[in-house]
Amino acid sequence: MALILAIETSCDDTSAAVVNTDYQVLSNVVSSQEKTHSQYGGIVPELASRMHYEAIDTITHRALEQAQVKLDDIDAVAVTSCPGLVGSLLVGVNFAKGLAWSAGKPLIAVHHIEGHLLAPLIEHRLNFPFLSCVISGGHTSIYRANGFGDYQQLSRTIDDAAGEAFDKVSKMMGFSYPGGPVIDKLAQQGEVGIKFTTPRIKNNPMDFSFSGIKTAVLTYLRNHPDVNFADVAASFQETVAKYIVYRAAELCRQNGVSLLAFSGGVSANSALRRIASQLQTQGITTCFSSLPYCTDNAAMIGIAAIYRYKKADFAQHLNINASASTAL
Ligand code: KG4
Ligand code: ZN
Repeated sequence: MALILAIETSCDDTSAAVVNTDYQVLSNVVSSQEKTHSQYGGIVPELASRMHYEAIDTITHRALEQAQVKLDDIDAVAVTSCPGLVGSLLVGVNFAKGLAWSAGKPLIAVHHIEGHLLAPLIEHRLNFPFLSCVISGGHTSIYRANGFGDYQQLSRTIDDAAGEAFDKVSKMMGFSYPGGPVIDKLAQQGEVGIKFTTPRIKNNPMDFSFSGIKTAVLTYLRNHPDVNFADVAASFQETVAKYIVYRAAELCRQNGVSLLAFSGGVSANSALRRIASQLQTQGITTCFSSLPYCTDNAAMIGIAAIYRYKKADFAQHLNINASASTAL
């Protein structure tokens, strides 16, 4: 059994993990920059790269320590090379390159979305094919996963990502970044009663659009200055959760697939989990990761690197580059 050291710095979490090729996570250390960025109401890319640069060395040492292994014991280094904030990605990519090259270890470049897509394998045994709903601050897509490295995009957002909509709605009500957990908590005290609608996209009716609902919330807040924010949070959250879950269920039916996995930060949402759990009655089995594996983490990058390690699909150390490109 081989050991993989994984590095993830695509957005605002500096993370390092050690996994083995039996899909076990030996350590998964995450240093969040949330407090810093929340002062600005969103991620400041320049600050994000600087903070990754300051943290990466310590976080990697901690991941090795917690796994009780030394760099020498590691068989390969995996790193997120795309997509994300390029300045942030560059820190992880260059750190991993230098580390792998100097220690004489092979390097594996991993697509961040593939990490999210395969994250459920950390805690569940999933058989292909399954549909994977990747819902985060940067992405909202549904893929049909036919096998390792074989993913077909069935749906995507044509504008904002789901997490972005949560973040923006939270900001409209004067709350901090990231907005998803704030809205989720606030919604527990509210009533679902305000009607917000979600669109069907003409060209591909399975695609998502979140910009309309965001504007609808803004208009509602302007027209109802005395509204209870908890009711807005509950109604917005319920609408988005149903939009995502019902669309994913429809795609399961269209594709004859009965297994549906959710990943990415928004899959932590309690309304989404509640609504998805009701799909069991329609013959659809849903699969969620525990919270540390929903949001950005290096363990999922290590897990996504395993099949490439087994195929010796390694990157040329000096050739790999960071890229913002989202195509999987
Ligand atoms: O996967 P992630 O950590 O980073 C990206 O790759 O984007 O996702 C972060 C996003 C943020 O937009 C955050 O507001 C959202 O996930 N999020 C949530 C919840 N927890 C995090 N959205 C809704 N409900 C939550 N409980
Ligand atoms: Zn992510």
